[in-house]
Formats: sequence, structure tokens, C-alpha cells
Amino acid sequence: MKKVITFIGAGNMSRSLIAGLVQDKTDLKIRIADPDDAQLQSIQSNWEGITAFTDNLQAIDQADIIVLAVKPQIMQKVCEPLQERLASQNTLIISIAAGIRISNLNHWLGGDDHQNDRSLAIVRCMPNTPALVQSGMTGLYANKHVSGEQHDLAESILRAVGSTLWLSDENKLDAVTAVSGSGPAYYFLVMEAMQNAAQKLGLSAEESRLLVLQTAFGAAKLALETSDDASILRQRVTSKGGTTEAALKELMQGGLPELFETAMTAAENRSRRLSEN
Ligand SMILES: NC(=O)c1ccc[n+]([C@@H]2O[C@H](COP(=O)([O-])OP(=O)(O)OC[C@H]3O[C@@H](n4cnc5c(N)ncnc54)[C@H](OP(=O)(O)O)[C@@H]3O)[C@@H](O)[C@H]2O)c1
Repeated sequence: MKKVITFIGAGNMSRSLIAGLVQDKTDLKIRIADPDDAQLQSIQSNWEGITAFTDNLQAIDQADIIVLAVKPQIMQKVCEPLQERLASQNTLIISIAAGIRISNLNHWLGGDDHQNDRSLAIVRCMPNTPALVQSGMTGLYANKHVSGEQHDLAESILRAVGSTLWLSDENKLDAVTAVSGSGPAYYFLVMEAMQNAAQKLGLSAEESRLLVLQTAFGAAKLALETSDDASILRQRVTSKGGTTEAALKELMQGGLPELFETAMTAAENRSRRLSEN
């Protein structure tokens, strides 16, 4: 029998995960729940065979996997009513909400009811926005109740929207947030700055955009397709006394590496503080 996956929240992330699963010709039977009928209809008109619900409890009935894809602020309110239903079924819970710790999810979903010996299999993930175009990077952490089969299921779901990295320590998700979670914005800032500088050099906005974006794409592709470190790749394109050397000298003197360290430490601290609340 096909396994059932229920997405709670029909927003951007659920859409991109569903798009990835459909593209991968998934064997999973997909359900989606959201209070907004229009959101549900728009998903159903995009992809065939998806069952939609406005009632979360109905949507999770006998589900093998639940993906919690609502905003962190409403997670507790969404989880608590699911407790009773989850008590009678063995479901893998996958949360993609930023900054919500497994201990909180477990508590809100009734997993710490020791009297009734309940244990919930929970995977917490940190995806990033390129998941919207199936080029995401997701850090994942599983609690000890996640079975081997459930681990593989979670992997296949997040792999549908990009690459995955499993972590052995939940605390590392704060670092993942600072690197790949917030990372797209760092690259966008660099692209923005390069495009502005290109225009100052006399190129049009359109010319600047194409040159900068294709260069960013090409550099990432080159780096991904070789085992050489970024520092080696950089040295290889930096000839003595050349143009690249002239530019890199300015960036180094301006303290770019130190600036990244400070910026990413600030992001990690912020992530830790948010998940402590
Ligand atoms: N977007 C990203 O790149 C990204 C990256 C990493 C992690 N995340 C995480 O992914 C989660 C979802 O993000 P998103 O961008 O997909 O958010 P989103 O577009 O706002 O989607 C959330 C959906 O949940 C619906 N919803 C609200 N209350 C609900 C309820 N009681 N039951 C079921 N659904 C309900 C919302 O409906 P209304 O609009 O009507 O409220 C909305 O359609 C967040 O926790 C976020 O932290 C997102």
C-alpha cells in the first residue's frame, strides 16, 4: 500500500516540496491541509491526485508522515490539537519551521507522556529558499525514535528539493541556519553590489545582471564539480600582477573574510536565541 504524507500548511515550502516529489514521480500519496480553501484549490489545480483538507485532524488520519510547514509563531497552536490522533498511530513528524526545537515539538504533540510510554519520531530540518527552484540545501536532525526506514523517507522528501546534510547534534542547526539558511541573502547582497559596481564601470543594468548572475552560477557549478577547495580555485584564476589579483587585494584589505566571520556568528547567535524562546 502507498504511504501517506500530509503537509500541514499550503504555503511556499509545501508547494516546493510537493513540486519536487511530483517531479521525482513519488510513490507517496499526498494530502495537504490549510484553513484557506483558495490555497488548497490552487495546489490541486497545479498537481493531480492531491487530497485537500481544511481540517488538520482529518488530514493526518492514518498518515505515515506529517510535514509541519506553518510559520513558527503558530506551531504550538497547530500541534496541540493533533496529540490525541498521534497517540494511536506511528507517524514520522518532519518539521521545517525555523528555530523550533524538537523538545518543544515533542511536548506540543504529546510525545513526553511517559505514563503512556509514548515516543514520537521527529525530524527537524532547516531548508533554504532555493528549495523553491529545487536547488535547496537542507540540514536535518533526527531524534532517537526515528527508524532507519523513516530516516530514508525524510531524506527522500528533502532530496526532492535539493541536497541534504544530516547532523548528529541538534545544536548544529543554528550554524546551518547561519550558513545555508541565511546564506542565499549573502550571495544576493554580493550580486547586488557587483551589479551596482558593473554599472559604474559603464555597463547597462541588463548587461550587468547577466554578467553577474551567470558568473555566480558558473563559479558555484565549477566549485561543486571539483574536489578542489575554494581557495585553490581562487588561486588558479589569480595570476600575478593581473586584474583578479588587483580586485582581490582590495577585498582582502577591506576585511571581507573577517566580515563574513562576524556576520555569520551574529546569525548563529540570533538563531540560538530564537530557538530558546
Ligand atoms: N520559505 C523558506 O524559504 C523557508 C526556509 C526555511 C524554513 N522555512 C520554514 O517553513 C515554514 C513554512 O514557510 P512558508 O514560507 O511555506 O510559509 P507560508 O507561505 O506562510 O505558509 C504557511 C501556510 O500555513 C497556513 N496556515 C496558517 N494557519 C494554519 C493552520 N492552523 N493549519 C494549517 N495551515 C495553516 C498559512 O495560511 P495563511 O497564509 O492563510 O495564514 C500558509 O498557507 C516556516 O515555519 C518557515 O520557518 C521556510
